Amino acid sequence: MKVDVLLGLQWGDEGKGKIVDVLAPKYDVVARFQGGPNAGHTLEFDGIKHVLHQIPSGIFREKTRNVIGNGVVLDPIVFRSEIEKLSKYNLNVKANLFISKKATLIVPTHRLLDQAYEKAKGDEKIGSTLKGIGPSYQDKIGRQGLRVGDVLADNFNAKFKKLTDIHFAILKDHVIEYNWPELERQFFEAITFLKGFNLIDSEYFINDELNKNASILAEGAQGSLLDIDFGSYPFVTSSNTVTAGACTGLGIAPSKVGEVYGIFKAYSTRVGSGPFPTELLDEDGEKMRKEGNEFGSTTGRPRRCGWIDLPSLKYSIMINGVTQLLMMKADVLNTFPVIKVCTHYKLSDGSIIETMPYEIVNQKITPIYRELSGWNTPIFGTSESDVPPNLLIYVNFLEKSLQVPISLISIGPDRSQTIVRSKPNL
Ligand code: GDP
Ligand code: IMO
Ligand code: MG
Repeated sequence: MKVDVLLGLQWGDEGKGKIVDVLAPKYDVVARFQGGPNAGHTLEFDGIKHVLHQIPSGIFREKTRNVIGNGVVLDPIVFRSEIEKLSKYNLNVKANLFISKKATLIVPTHRLLDQAYEKAKGDEKIGSTLKGIGPSYQDKIGRQGLRVGDVLADNFNAKFKKLTDIHFAILKDHVIEYNWPELERQFFEAITFLKGFNLIDSEYFINDELNKNASILAEGAQGSLLDIDFGSYPFVTSSNTVTAGACTGLGIAPSKVGEVYGIFKAYSTRVGSGPFPTELLDEDGEKMRKEGNEFGSTTGRPRRCGWIDLPSLKYSIMINGVTQLLMMKADVLNTFPVIKVCTHYKLSDGSIIETMPYEIVNQKITPIYRELSGWNTPIFGTSESDVPPNLLIYVNFLEKSLQVPISLISIGPDRSQTIVRSKPNL
C-alpha cells in the first residue's frame, strides 16, 4: 500500500479536519506530519463540534490508529489539555495514539519568543498564532532543539535548562511579561503526562504498517500558500506544508506516496497578515465571513475572505502533485447571485499572468475575474443529483481550469453533509 496525503491548497482552514474524519474509516492509520498547535482542525458529528490542534483527526474512529510524526512540533501543555477535553468521550486514546520520539518539543520560552519577535516586527508582523511554532522550528534547524524522546532520558531537566537559558538571553532584550515558575510547573506536569503515552520510532511504525499492507492517510496542517518555501514568504508558517513534507515529516520515501487529496474552499480565506490578491473588503467579504462562520479555530480571529483564486490553486496543485480535488463550503455561496473566479493576475507593470509571481508581497496584484451565475438555492440532500445545476457548472468550470477531478463537494460542517461524486467530469 501507499501513503495517501490530504492537504490544504490555500491559506489553511480549508476543512481538513472534517474530511480526514470522513475518510478515516477507510484508513488503518492517520498521521500528522508537520505543524503543531497553530493548527485548528474542526470535526462535527452528533451535534458536537470538536477542535483538534495536535492530535490527528482520525482519533474519533475506533479502528484508526493515529500518529504524531517526527515533523511535528509538539507542545506538551496543549497536548495535555487536548487529551483531557477528549476524556469525556468513550475513546481509547491511549491505545490509538502514537507519538514520534523525533518530534520537536515546544517549550514555554518558544511561545514567549514568538511574542517577542512579533512585537519587534511592528507593522510587518506575520500575524502568528503565537504558539511557539517559528522559534521551535528554528531550534530544530539550529540543532539545539529538544525532542519528545529526550523526556525519557535522565538529563532531560539539564537539557531543558540549557535551552531555556539560551532563550532567556534573547528575551532579556524584549519587554514580555511572564510568570516563569508557573510556566515551568505546567510544562513539567505536562511532560509527566506525556510520558504515559506511546512514544515510538514512528518512521519504523509507519513503514512496518505499509509493509503489512495497512492503509495510511497523512493529514496536512496549514495550507500550501503558507509553506515555508513556496508560500507568500515571509508571511508563512515555519514548515513544509506540501506533499514533500509528508515524506520528511513521517519518514516515508517519495515513491510511497499514493493519492494526493487537495482540499480547497469554494472561495478563499486567510487569517493573519500577508498578500491575498482576491481579498474582499466589501459587503460580499463580510457576507462570506458571516455565512461561513469564518473565525479562526485556534485564535478566534476573523478570517479575511475573498473569491477563489485559480493562479494560486494551479501553483499548489503543481507543487503537491494533487490527484483529486475536494471542494469545501460550497453552501456558503448559496445566496450569492454571482460567483467570481480569479483566472489571471494583472501585475503593476500591466502584464497579465496565470502563475505566481516571485514578488507577491511588494507589488499590487489585481485579480482578473470571470463571472458565473450563482445557484441561489439551499442544497438539500447529499446525492449527486441534489447538486444545483449552477453549482455543477461552477464545479465543471474549476475542473476544466485546474485539470484535476473534483471528487467531493462539502455542503456543511457535519460529517454527513458531504457529496461524493462517482464520476468527476474530466
Ligand atoms: P482545517 O484547519 O482545514 O481543519 O479547517 P478549520 O476547522 O479550521 O475550518 C473549517 C471550518 O469550516 C470549520 O468550522 C468547519 O466546521 C467548517 N466546515 C467544514 N466544511 C464545511 C462546509 O462544507 N460548509 C460549512 N458551512 N462549513 C464547513
Ligand atoms: P490549520 O491547520 C490558518 C497562519 C497564521 C499566520 C501564519 C504563521 O488549522 O489550517 P504561525 O503560528 O505558524 O507562526 O503563523 O500562518 N496559520 C494558519 N492559518 N490555518 C492554520 O492551520 C494556520 N496555522 C498558522 O495565522 O498568518
Ligand atoms: Mg484550521
